[in-house]
Amino acid sequence: MTTTEAVQLMMTDAAEIQAQGEAEKYQAFTDKFKPALTTDDCYTPAPVYDAVLEWVRKEYSLGGAEIVRPFWPGGDYQAQEYPEGCAVVDNPPFSIISQVVRWYTQKGVRFFLFAPALTLFSGSNYDCGVTFICCGVGVIYENGAQVPTSFVTNMDTCLARTAPELYRLVDEASVKNAKAGKVSLPKYVYPDHIVTAAIAQRWCKYGVEWRLSASDCVQVSSLDAQKSAGKAIFGKGFLLSDTAAAERAAAERAAAERAAATRWPLSEREKAIIARLGRKSTENVEIQHEQAGGGGSLICRS
Ligand SMILES: C[S@@+](CC[C@H](N)C(=O)[O-])C[C@H]1O[C@@H](n2cnc3c(N)ncnc32)[C@H](O)[C@@H]1O
Repeated sequence: MTTTEAVQLMMTDAAEIQAQGEAEKYQAFTDKFKPALTTDDCYTPAPVYDAVLEWVRKEYSLGGAEIVRPFWPGGDYQAQEYPEGCAVVDNPPFSIISQVVRWYTQKGVRFFLFAPALTLFSGSNYDCGVTFICCGVGVIYENGAQVPTSFVTNMDTCLARTAPELYRLVDEASVKNAKAGKVSLPKYVYPDHIVTAAIAQRWCKYGVEWRLSASDCVQVSSLDAQKSAGKAIFGKGFLLSDTAAAERAAAERAAAERAAATRWPLSEREKAIIARLGRKSTENVEIQHEQAGGGGSLICRS
């Protein structure tokens, strides 16, 4: 589910629950729809990146060396230009970090990369002259995910080390950025010609049947309009044909109608009655409608 879709989902249904004034229920509800974030989509807040870069420049005496950031939605780091003497300082998709490290090492490009703290040593790069910087600093990324972050570089001399000053700088920048309210869930609304898994899951929740044929779509990771802003579709999506887009719109309308309807829940007592209904007649199910007590109640006897 994209952070956007989580927000859309929460805004629609949350109004209903909030109106009931049940704060606890509301909290549980919003927690349930917090997006499952993947680290590949964790964008670095500028102050955090600046803190890392400041430390890297000083630590490795980079002077005026050109800094390259090749990782962005739709990017291809292997097709990027790497001017002589440059250094890559960036946050790559963690899912391909071993491959990235190997490629830069083979090409002789200097790099300092964000890396997953908990699996820092699990890559297959021990023999290619890299240094693991064990920081484990809890960076709060732009999408609100807090990820323990370390780093990997080929500009150091040992195999592994700590860097307390780097930890302090990044931690300070991350907390300050989050406190300033700079980290917020983006509010995106996609056109009918885009569907994501999270959008379709919402229809399923509201009992809407929907199917998409492979011939009616193509997978996309971001809209062209998002690329220039460095944004992407969280979890990717499908670009739809006109027919599929019309079906998507119909599913959305159906789900919205059902979401807007007042849903009365069954009580435990009613559920117990239901559990006994439909049994064989030998059990002699008898249902009586009691008028006493204002509302009607049902009693089952077997
Ligand atoms: C963790 S995000 C970080 C983005 C940005 N560099 C930052 O620091 O905020 C990694 C980005 O790399 C992009 N990406 C995925 N595969 C890539 C590749 N082969 N080459 C370049 N970028 C890629 C992803 O789409 C994603 O936007």
